[in-house]
Amino acid sequence: MCGIVGYVGSRPAVPILLQGLVRLEYRGYDSAGVAVTGARGVEVRKLAGRVPALASLLGATPVAGTCGIAHTRWATHGAPTQVNAHPHGDCGGALAVVHNGIIENADVLRPQLERAGHEFAGETDTEVLAHLIEDAPGETLEDRVIAALAHVEGTYGLAVVSAAEPDKIVVARQGSPVLLGIGEHGMFVASDASAVLEHTRSVVYLDDGDIAVLRPEGYHVLDDESHVRVREVADLAWDLEAIELGGHEHFMLKEILEQAETTRGTLRGRLLFDEGTARLNGLNLPRDAAAAVQRIVLLGCGTSWHAALAGREILESLTGIPAYAEYASEFRYRRMAPLPGTLAIAISQSGETADTLEAMRAARAAGCRVLGIVNVVGSTIAREAQGGIYLHAGPEIGVASTKAFTSQVVALALLGLYLGRQRGMPADEGRELVCHLAALPGLVTHALAIEPEVRVLAERYADARNALYMGRGVNFPVALEGALKLKEISYIHAEGYPAAEMKHGPIALIDENMPVFVVAPKDPVYPKVVSNMQEVKARGGRIVAITTEGNGDLRGLVDHQLRVPAVTPLLSPVLTVIPLQLLAYHIAVLRGCDVDKPRNLAKSVTVE
Ligand code: F6R
Repeated sequence: MCGIVGYVGSRPAVPILLQGLVRLEYRGYDSAGVAVTGARGVEVRKLAGRVPALASLLGATPVAGTCGIAHTRWATHGAPTQVNAHPHGDCGGALAVVHNGIIENADVLRPQLERAGHEFAGETDTEVLAHLIEDAPGETLEDRVIAALAHVEGTYGLAVVSAAEPDKIVVARQGSPVLLGIGEHGMFVASDASAVLEHTRSVVYLDDGDIAVLRPEGYHVLDDESHVRVREVADLAWDLEAIELGGHEHFMLKEILEQAETTRGTLRGRLLFDEGTARLNGLNLPRDAAAAVQRIVLLGCGTSWHAALAGREILESLTGIPAYAEYASEFRYRRMAPLPGTLAIAISQSGETADTLEAMRAARAAGCRVLGIVNVVGSTIAREAQGGIYLHAGPEIGVASTKAFTSQVVALALLGLYLGRQRGMPADEGRELVCHLAALPGLVTHALAIEPEVRVLAERYADARNALYMGRGVNFPVALEGALKLKEISYIHAEGYPAAEMKHGPIALIDENMPVFVVAPKDPVYPKVVSNMQEVKARGGRIVAITTEGNGDLRGLVDHQLRVPAVTPLLSPVLTVIPLQLLAYHIAVLRGCDVDKPRNLAKSVTVE
C-alpha cells in the first residue's frame, strides 16, 4: 500500500522522483524518502512526514544523479519514523532498497544477520532485504538480488540501487504490484501507473517471480535462475487529466462529481438495445458455462463489499441464481463447500487488495470459475481472474472510494442483465432494463445537482459525534456505504443497519442528538421504511431521508428530505449513494479533516 517510483536515464532523477511521489502519495503518506546514485555513492534523504517536507529537505541538502528510487510509506512494520522510512541501506551505505509488501520471515533473518555482524538502524522488515543483498554472492546487482531473495518468504515489490553500478535499478516482484515504464529519456519503475503517466504510456506489468534490470537505454526481465523472460508492452489508457485535481479542492469531490461520466464509461459499448442484453466481451463465460451456474459468490472488502451486497440483490433478482456476498477477508480462511457450478466474482477497484486476491484464489482452488469486476487494468486480480468486467471509471485517487462504487453497481447490473437474458428473462424485460441503464448517467447528473443543498445541510451535522444510517433491500448496502464514508473521512462514529433491525437493539441509541440518515427511495419496501422512520421519530431522533422525486412529502416526519431522481429500484443505489457521499465530504471539510488522506488509511490495501 506504499508507493514506489524509480528512474534511470539522462535527466536529473530528483524532480522526477518527487513528482512521482506526489502522484503516489494517496497510497501511503506517513513517511517518504529517496536514494540517488551519483558521484558520492548512494545518497539517501528521508523523513517521517509527507512529500512536500521531503522536497524541502532535498532543497536544503540536495542530491545529484540520474538514477534513483523513492518511496512513500504506510507503516506496517515499525512506527512511521525517519529511521523506519524507506529507502533502507546496508551497513556500508553502498546500496539502497525500497519495498512494498511484507517479509514474513524477517524475524528469523534479522537475528541471523545481526549475529553475522550486520547493524540495523530501524525496525522494518525491509531493512533485512538490504543486509541480505549486501551479503549475497554474485557479480552483478541482479545476481545478488536473486541470491538474496532465495532466502525470503513473503511478498514484495522492490527496487534496489547500488553505488557499484550507479546506472542500474534492479526490480523484483512477488505478490506486490510493480510495473516498468519505457520512456524516451530513460526507464521508470513504479508500483502504480499514475507515477509514470507524465513520462510514458508504454508499460510492462511484471509477474510474480520476475526480476527486472533497468538501465538508461532499456530493460530486460529475468526469472530466478537468470533466464530472460519476455513480457508484453502494454499501453496505458488513462490520461494525465484523470490524475489531476482539475480545479477541485479534493480528489474525492472531483471523483464524486465525475460519476455521470464514469458510469457512462462502464456502460460504453455494452448495451445492446435490440437484443435487450449486454455485450461483455471480456467475461469469458461461454453460454454452456453460464447455463451451468448454480450459485454466485461475490467477494470484496470495504466499499467493494458494499457493492457485492447490492450485487447480491441485483443478480439474484435478475437471474434467479442464488447469490451471496462475502467479506473477502473472512472467506479466504473458510473451508468452502466445493459446490459444483459456483461462480465467484472478485470485486475490487484497485485489483490489488490482498484479501480479495486471496479469497479469489481460494475460490478457484475450491473449483469455482472466477471472474473479476475491477477498475485498474492490468492489476493482479484482473490478470488472475478467468474473465471479468473492467469498470473503465478512470483512476480513483481519493482514499475514500466513490466513483468505483457506482460503477461496480452498474457493472453488476450489466452482468445480471447478461446472465438473466440467458436464463429466461424475456426480451422485453431485457430491453426495458437496457433503457434504464442507458438513462442512468443522465440521472446521475441530475442527482449531483443536489450538491449545494447537501453542503448547507452538512453544517447542521458537522458537530455530530455519532450517526446512524438505515436502508432496506438493495439500499441497505447504501446505508453501510454512507456510514463508512462518514467515519473514514470525518472520524464521526457511524453505523449502518437494515432499517427493520433498529427495533432489535440499535433503537436504544436514538435521542435528540442522534442524526439518522434513512435511504428510502420509491421501491416495494418504501412503506415499511416509512414506518421504521416513525419508530425513530417517536424516540426523538433527527431524520434525514434520501428519497426519490415524486415520493411524496415526509414533512412532519423527517427533518430534511434529499431527493434523487426516480429510477427502477434495482439501480437506485447508484443515485441514493450520491447525497451520502457529498454529505460525508462536506462534513469532513467543515471539520477540517484531510479528506483525501484520512488518518491511518491508504488506498489499495495490499497487506493482509
Ligand atoms: C472505502 C475504501 C475501502 C476499499 C477497500 C477495497 O472508502 O476505499 O474500503 O473499498 O479497501 O478496495 P478495492 O476496491 O481496491 O479492493
